[in-house]
Amino acid sequence: MNIRVQQQTLTKVTSDVLVVPLLQGEQGGESVKTLDTALNGALQQQIKYSGFAAKEGETLLFPTQGRLPSRTLLLLGLGKVDNLEPDTWRRYAARAHREAKGQGAKHLAWFFPVAQQSEEKLVAVVEGTCLAAYSFEKYKSEKNGKPPVETLTLAGMELHSSTALAKALDVAQQVIPGVFLARDLINEPASVSTPTYLAEHAAKILRSNGIQGEIWGPAKIKAAKMSGLLAVARGSVEEPRFIKLVYKPTGKPKKKIALVGKGLTFDSGGLSLKPPKSMETMKHDMSGGATVLGVMSVISHLKPQVQVTGYVPATENMPSGTAQKPGDIIRYKNGKTVEVLNTDAEGRLILADALIQAVNDKPDVIIDLATLTGACVVALGSQIAGIFSNNQELSETLTRYGKEAGEPLWPLPLVKEYKEDIKSTIADIKNTGSGNAGAIAAALFLQEFVGGVPWAHLDIAGPAFSEKESSYIAKGGTGFGVRTLARYLLSL
Ligand code: BES
Ligand code: MN
Ligand code: ZN
Repeated sequence: MNIRVQQQTLTKVTSDVLVVPLLQGEQGGESVKTLDTALNGALQQQIKYSGFAAKEGETLLFPTQGRLPSRTLLLLGLGKVDNLEPDTWRRYAARAHREAKGQGAKHLAWFFPVAQQSEEKLVAVVEGTCLAAYSFEKYKSEKNGKPPVETLTLAGMELHSSTALAKALDVAQQVIPGVFLARDLINEPASVSTPTYLAEHAAKILRSNGIQGEIWGPAKIKAAKMSGLLAVARGSVEEPRFIKLVYKPTGKPKKKIALVGKGLTFDSGGLSLKPPKSMETMKHDMSGGATVLGVMSVISHLKPQVQVTGYVPATENMPSGTAQKPGDIIRYKNGKTVEVLNTDAEGRLILADALIQAVNDKPDVIIDLATLTGACVVALGSQIAGIFSNNQELSETLTRYGKEAGEPLWPLPLVKEYKEDIKSTIADIKNTGSGNAGAIAAALFLQEFVGGVPWAHLDIAGPAFSEKESSYIAKGGTGFGVRTLARYLLSL
């Protein structure tokens, strides 16, 4: 989408749909009066007839019939609160985008009164508009049909495009393709979005500017002794892949950050088979991996001053004659042994290998993202991810950027006492807990593989995939985490 910042008076903005945000009660205020004069009183009249009061989320569409350079006005009620959060602006922007698209608009504009044009707000409106433009229609024979919104104009009487604003808007826009890549990879059916498919996309990223890395097939995975990944992949006809992508900034990196993403392209549960209902959306069990690939795909544009390595263990989890069995034992490269009591707790098994690899590369920080447990969804629902960390500061920093990005994270504890629950009778640990606090048991399992490295684990089982459409989130893969990680990396 084309973004323009324009110093302009309200009645001179040219667009197909012009959004005029109004606080509750402002429907009789300065902006409306100015417009109304140009419209010979027709707008005030319509406001009166419809009872529009600029309540929160209330809208009024008004065709200007050639009397203004904008074809249609969209009065947008903000309610009473003057100081709205960025995420509220993102949602309003998505709302306006939906209305504009409904009007067949190619050129969408917003007019901000002088008191309402902070950089944070403008960035949020751009982000919300761009994110809302996503759709995944390739398997629909009947497409939406409306043309995409091509231009977004941010107009205001005293709106100047400073370098700081231009930079902030650029960054916001540069991240979007990363979010969309993640969404696409998730939305493709599991028989398309296989480990090989993820690896092909990783190879594409790798060929693009400044990214190095390696993509391993079964032979190299064996040679690297990634026994958890091999154990889970055993039951599947699809070959596993292990993806490692490295971004190095120009000049000396301030830090080395490892991003690890669960790339389970279909989770049937394995021999501990899931019931059919639970399997319906299990193509999205590679969302953590998709997020990592999404970040790596835009990182050379974002140019953070840190070295970032993305690790994605990718495999299916299938039942078959060659599948691993409950009771089997995995011996990891770091010497730890794991008894597999439930083959459906497979995410932690493949993440363990990736964490061992990451630790081996001596990072300053490890962040993993995984659709790891149904228990986390029970605890926090579909919109919030759990964050576990051995480092308070890291946890707080990520939580802060998550809030800014509209990707909320909520801290859950690594309860030492619960380590009892993952003790095995015949191996060091087992891959299930006691049945209670399943998200914590899974996180404690992962902690066994990070040594002393500052680490955060994001259980994104809830927000990675959306069952319903809401504001800037379409149904399906959300790309949760891409924008939080981008903000975090740029802050270092
Ligand atoms: N991929 C699932 C977790 C999941 C559930 C993600 C729902 C998204 C939505 C994971 O591999 C899994 O099956 N976990 C089990 C662990 C249990 C067997 C200890 C679970 O949560 O039931
Ligand atoms: Mn599972
Ligand atoms: Zn899984």
